[in-house]
Amino acid sequence: MIVGAQWGDEGKGKVVDLLARESDIVARYNGGPNAGHTIVAGGETWKLRHMPSGILWGKECVIGAGCVVDPGVFVEELDEFERRGMSTERVRLSGNAHVIMPWHLAIDRGSERRLGKLKIGTTRRGIGPTYADKAYRLGIRLQDLFDPKILRQKIEVALAEKNVWLERVYGDTPLELEELAARYESHAQRLRPYLADTSLLVDRALRSGKDVLFEGAHGTLLDIDHGTYPFVTSSPTLSGGAATGIGIGPTRIDAVTGVAKAYVTRVGEGPFPTEIEGPEQERVRELGGEFGTVTGRERRCGWLDLVALRYAVRLNGITALALTKLDVLSSFAELPVCLRYRLPSGGETGDFPAHQSDFHHCRPVYETLPGWSEPIDEIEDFGDLPEPARRYVEFVERELEVDVTLIGTGAERERVLARAGAAAAA
Ligand code: IMP
Repeated sequence: MIVGAQWGDEGKGKVVDLLARESDIVARYNGGPNAGHTIVAGGETWKLRHMPSGILWGKECVIGAGCVVDPGVFVEELDEFERRGMSTERVRLSGNAHVIMPWHLAIDRGSERRLGKLKIGTTRRGIGPTYADKAYRLGIRLQDLFDPKILRQKIEVALAEKNVWLERVYGDTPLELEELAARYESHAQRLRPYLADTSLLVDRALRSGKDVLFEGAHGTLLDIDHGTYPFVTSSPTLSGGAATGIGIGPTRIDAVTGVAKAYVTRVGEGPFPTEIEGPEQERVRELGGEFGTVTGRERRCGWLDLVALRYAVRLNGITALALTKLDVLSSFAELPVCLRYRLPSGGETGDFPAHQSDFHHCRPVYETLPGWSEPIDEIEDFGDLPEPARRYVEFVERELEVDVTLIGTGAERERVLARAGAAAAA
């Protein structure tokens, strides 16, 4: 199991890609096209939206019931893969996954516009409204697309409400039943070969001793229950979500690798205690290429936050850490690392605040570690890293009491240092 340990964009794609090679199945259990992965392999860049990263190794790829799917985006992704000579034959979609419909996109956009300064800063991919309708039991599931009568009826019922919202609340144009029904029936034709009972498929694979890699989308602090609500996504992003999102018992997950950047980034609004003040933020952004895969937005950049990371270890039961993009920190004379938060009441804590006001108004307490200036991207062995870089990694391990088993040293697939214990933990 791989899970993002910060606010998403930790470089999970690259770690999943690496571990996917050793797995039989790679399965996604939450989120939709709001989670972009960028993988650089053989000089080619792949931007994945719906697709589990295992696709690049020709693995069986599962999109579980806990995901939401935008059929238009998915079909585009399938076409792009096939055009570039990558087979999509082994992709499997759960019929229980909910469908992102055009009204979800319109409502996501309209709602953000209406919130103005209070906006969430969503990816505008319709995620929140789709999960809301799922909970409200007004959602359309992938399996509905394959029965034209049911599909038409469901669109009609939804539109009776959604068009009122679109026109009256957001001043948007209403949607038209016939056009939508025809468009989604045509998507259904393209998607039909991929549909499968993915819970059963994963269960059978596990029973026969196969390795399944669960790929968490987004990050711990974007979790709907335990993240920095309301600045979160609308699905469970934690490791536990894999059980419900795929449809297996939690006892089937035997190791959890958390992925964290050697610093922190955040897209969208919301509190961010270690956000860097001044020109150094811009330097980290440029060096790290911190612009969104899905939206192209600038990511906010901060120093490594061990309070938040400790929280991620707790929430996910992380058994090993992958620390990505360590190379981005080469050329900083000093590296502040946040160990505690100073609370508005005056006290300090090493635990993530349970109350939002404490988190919104806390100040980071840093320990400053020495930096290094040598490039590290060509290094192949942990022992050959500059001493301050090794100390940085060991400091994180000591503070979190978790082994750092993988270290990212560059964008290319092979720019990863594996340390002792990596194979066992992963
Ligand atoms: P939504 O998931 O589009 O509803 O966006 C909700 C919040 O989650 C926003 O702050 C987004 O920027 C953030 N978010 C969603 N997916 C990702 C991701 O994959 N990486 C980083 N941030 C994300």
